[in-house]
Amino acid sequence: MKVVCTEKSQILAVRIADELGVQVADTRFARFPDGELYLQVLDPLDDETVIVGSVTDNDAFIQLMLLVDACEMTKKTLVIPYLGYARQDKKFKDGEPISARVAARALSHEVDSVITVNIHEKDIARHFKVPAHDLSLAAEIGEYLKGRDLDKPLILAPDSGAADFAAEIAAVGGWQCDYLKKTRLSGEEVMMEPKTFDVAGREVVITDDIISTGGTLATATKMLYAQGAAAVHAICVHGVFTGGAYVHLRSAGVKSVVCSDTIERACSGVSAARCIAAALRK
Ligand code: R5P
Repeated sequence: MKVVCTEKSQILAVRIADELGVQVADTRFARFPDGELYLQVLDPLDDETVIVGSVTDNDAFIQLMLLVDACEMTKKTLVIPYLGYARQDKKFKDGEPISARVAARALSHEVDSVITVNIHEKDIARHFKVPAHDLSLAAEIGEYLKGRDLDKPLILAPDSGAADFAAEIAAVGGWQCDYLKKTRLSGEEVMMEPKTFDVAGREVVITDDIISTGGTLATATKMLYAQGAAAVHAICVHGVFTGGAYVHLRSAGVKSVVCSDTIERACSGVSAARCIAAALRK
């Protein structure tokens, strides 16, 4: 077995290969003069290939499909640590595509199975045309938080939909967990507070699958401090951090912002490698 990877998933791919004790195939990435992407897998492949690539942007999407084609004649497991386009998972308005379905179908082509990590909605997996298995980094995030020595931590989901993920994380340390309840005060004003617990004097950790603009989290942080929180931290699986979101969150008073390496960032404090390697061994 060999691991191959796209340009933006190199570090995670090497970590997965190290966990498995296998090689990562050297690959050259370039562009044609007109901007089109080019790649070449330089090392010979084995019978079985693990292809690792997050769909972080359009180039990464195309690169992943090119890589699958370059690995023809091998048995292929496609690991998509972050599946972009997953948030458009239904037609919100007439005339819209179901982008998650488009991505899943396109990435099913010529592969034998798929592994995703905290896919935005479990239901998206049914759009893959091959067996697809979604992993959760809740245990890894919980272990990471255990090492942080937090004072009276409260694990907080930004909404009720993310409450199960927060509960899985909280279970690791035996911490309390809750979710933010939104009350609309007026056309522009929204009040956010934990549904059940008081945050006064506690370190609050807001957990989510994705941090994109960080908009909701920044607003919630200010309100949690107004309610007496001692500190607010943010941790997510996929650190998209669009439009200066990392700085926006820190400016709003979030004491630490951490993500996993499904999208490789300087603040990737949690790795998906062990969890993915364990799934590949099965
Ligand atoms: C939404 O359903 C997701 O789980 C995240 O809560 C969302 O993508 C975060 O977006 P933003 O950082 O832009 O508030």
